[in-house]
Amino acid sequence: MADGTNNDPRLAVEISGIRFNNPVIGASGTFGYGLEFADLIDLNRLGGFATKGLSARPLPGNPPPRIVETHGGMLNAIGLQNIGARAFVEEKLPLLARYDTRIIANVFGYSDDEYIEAITILNDGDGIAAYELNISCPNVKEGGIVIGNSPTAAARLTEKAKLASSRPLIVKLSPNVTDIAILARAIVDAGADCISLINTIVGMSIDVNTRKPRLSYGTGGLSGPAIRPIAVRMVHEVARAVDVPLIGIGGIASAADALEFIIAGATAIQIGTANYYDPTVTMKVIDGLTAHCESHHIATIKGLIGSLE
Ligand SMILES: Cc1cc2nc3c(=O)[nH]c(=O)nc-3n(C[C@H](O)[C@H](O)[C@H](O)COP(=O)(O)O)c2cc1C
Repeated sequence: MADGTNNDPRLAVEISGIRFNNPVIGASGTFGYGLEFADLIDLNRLGGFATKGLSARPLPGNPPPRIVETHGGMLNAIGLQNIGARAFVEEKLPLLARYDTRIIANVFGYSDDEYIEAITILNDGDGIAAYELNISCPNVKEGGIVIGNSPTAAARLTEKAKLASSRPLIVKLSPNVTDIAILARAIVDAGADCISLINTIVGMSIDVNTRKPRLSYGTGGLSGPAIRPIAVRMVHEVARAVDVPLIGIGGIASAADALEFIIAGATAIQIGTANYYDPTVTMKVIDGLTAHCESHHIATIKGLIGSLE
């Protein structure tokens, strides 16, 4: 690497005072609690990762089948299965302490109070860089997307979460809305430090033999390369509407994909579904960004943020 250590200094970015070695972050729900990837990639080279959505208490999630493959992506309805915020603080965080990567705790609740309860528990944990509020999960009947669809409810929760939080607050937007810029403005006015987007897009798949939905939940969230153009468009729209850093998410599987989001206005990006078919994809994207800087004589990736001509 260019600095003789393990990381290329040209790739470093900053979000709300937090330095990331590079803009490549593992996306919530596809990266476990980070440790699952420790034997597959060099976690010290990763910009960071977002945990599976953590709630105040452990959740079992929806019954199987919970994942269906589709063209260019997949549908999931996991239903936020997780070990709970307390177990994350006590069992996972101590094991993560040895890695030089930014840990983003993704937070979920079925009500405002439950979100705040989870944040309060996580405030006790050492080594968390920021919180990412998931107000966009389509696979639960309360919380999640119900809050994420209403600018008023989203702003109210953001305000409360900001007050309760001892760390920078990232709010993750749902694409399942008519005008994502309206949501983004409401959330930034309510105090969000950063916006990440997009979560999955509500979809459905039907087994024509049984004439039943393929997912037990009925509908699910579509992710993967199929959603990337929608995500790039939404990042571009939100970048023009608000003045906080953005994290772009949706179908990223290569450095070129990541660069599309950065040029559209994202400071960093998250990689989700691609981890399933290539667990080393994050490392390849980091190497690809270095190669791009090299071949285009780019001094720092920061100069590319929002550089769309
Ligand atoms: C199996 C699965 C589980 C997910 N769980 C969460 C979650 O717990 N919290 C969250 O905010 N997003 C969750 N997501 C959404 C991803 O973080 C990401 O926003 C989305 O998949 C789009 O990115 P991708 O196309 O790179 O996968 C999940 C996605 C998948 C595929």
